[in-house]
Amino acid sequence: MHVAVMGAGYAGLVTGAGLSDLGLMATCVDINEGKVRQLAEGKLPIFEPGLEELVRRNTQAGRLRFSADIPAAVKNSLVVFIAVGTNASPDGAADLSQVWSAADSIADHIEDYKIVVIRSTVPVGTAAQMRERISSRLKQPVEFEVASNPEFLREGSAVEDFFHPDRIVIGSSSSRAVGIMKDIYRHLYLIETPFVITTSETAELIKYAANSFLALKISFANELANLCDAIGPSTDVHVVIRALGLDRRIGPKFLHPGPGFGGSCLPKDTRAFCSIARKFGMSLRTIAAAVAVNDEQFLRVIEKVRQGLGSLADQAVAVLGLAFKPNTNDVRESRAVKICEALLAEGCDLRVFDPVATAPGSLVLDGRRFKCCANPYEAAEGVDALVVATEWNEFRVLDLAKLKKQMRGDLLVDAKNILDLAKAREAGFRYCGVGRR
Ligand code: UGA
Repeated sequence: MHVAVMGAGYAGLVTGAGLSDLGLMATCVDINEGKVRQLAEGKLPIFEPGLEELVRRNTQAGRLRFSADIPAAVKNSLVVFIAVGTNASPDGAADLSQVWSAADSIADHIEDYKIVVIRSTVPVGTAAQMRERISSRLKQPVEFEVASNPEFLREGSAVEDFFHPDRIVIGSSSSRAVGIMKDIYRHLYLIETPFVITTSETAELIKYAANSFLALKISFANELANLCDAIGPSTDVHVVIRALGLDRRIGPKFLHPGPGFGGSCLPKDTRAFCSIARKFGMSLRTIAAAVAVNDEQFLRVIEKVRQGLGSLADQAVAVLGLAFKPNTNDVRESRAVKICEALLAEGCDLRVFDPVATAPGSLVLDGRRFKCCANPYEAAEGVDALVVATEWNEFRVLDLAKLKKQMRGDLLVDAKNILDLAKAREAGFRYCGVGRR
């Protein structure tokens, strides 16, 4: 079976490469010809563990291709996945311009039966609207279906998530489309992945509900940590969370406190979910609260540095981490970047290290006070305080005594609670975590 995936971004690439590994003939199409050329040469625009190897294997086997030729990709495929970006509009709603432009180019080139699958995260009702839009644009009557198949891929472990998903959600009222979609994912069905077959509206809702619930858990954990900070050293948020997680109704995942959630999904999707609800006359108060808690959470890290140093102006601070989470080079909505921006705005001199991510323009522009370093120890040279902002594994095993020796001061703000408190003290640090002393 031939499939096309429109949009060779992170979700599209993983989907295309994953489908080809399941035995399908997949073409990843993108309007950016430069990107397509690079991909065809095996150069990936993103850092995602396992993806390069997956792409190489399937390209060599002739199952995976990259192309900028939309008409040919549409004509040759039975199923066309739309996996383009849905950035946030200024009011928080999802901006569907790329989705509509993909749908239009599909409509312009359909010659026989197709299933158009929306993989991008889109508001409730988008699949229905797309059906109308494609119908009204067709040059001749052609049979087609629109189905929803939201992705639940985490950056940093997207390949693993593709092959071992918690569930596959398929939203379509056509038994023919559902049958073909099930066939596409039959290898995952064989390993007993649960399939949820529903309407496209419910499938669209599931994606926002899942991301928003994860956001709720994180903001709840962050408020607990803030409360532990307020109560004092007799409490430890990790003990509270461990006990919570042991209750199977709650579960242990996504309760790790820190500077808040970032990335290209949770911040955008929680806002878009609130906007969707408003359109139906509803206010999602729990999600709005999770967003509000998150908007302020990184500022608590800044306050910890300020309290530890007495003031911020003209202090030298090292920040370890720029990526919004480990195993990715993505800095979109990264709390680590927000911490850096806030410290710069307060007049700090900043030295930064990330194993993979590069600094965004917002930081580099302030080059006078900002330096990218080659490793954590270089970043620590002469600084008054050190902030751990992303939980890269290599930060968990830092030589704390060596780090401390490099510094002028002794303040260590562990915004991700990844370091051993006792070892940090032993190395001479004044340690400050989140919700634990
Ligand atoms: C998220 C979802 O987890 C995926 O299921 C979904 O498919 C994806 O969005 C998407 O919509 O495409 P992702 O944005 O890659 O995936 O990252 P997460 O692992 O969810 O982490 C999001 C943020 O929450 C990160 O900043 C992370 O550091 C933070 N986080 C996560 C915490 O602060 N605490 C936790 O316990 C877990």
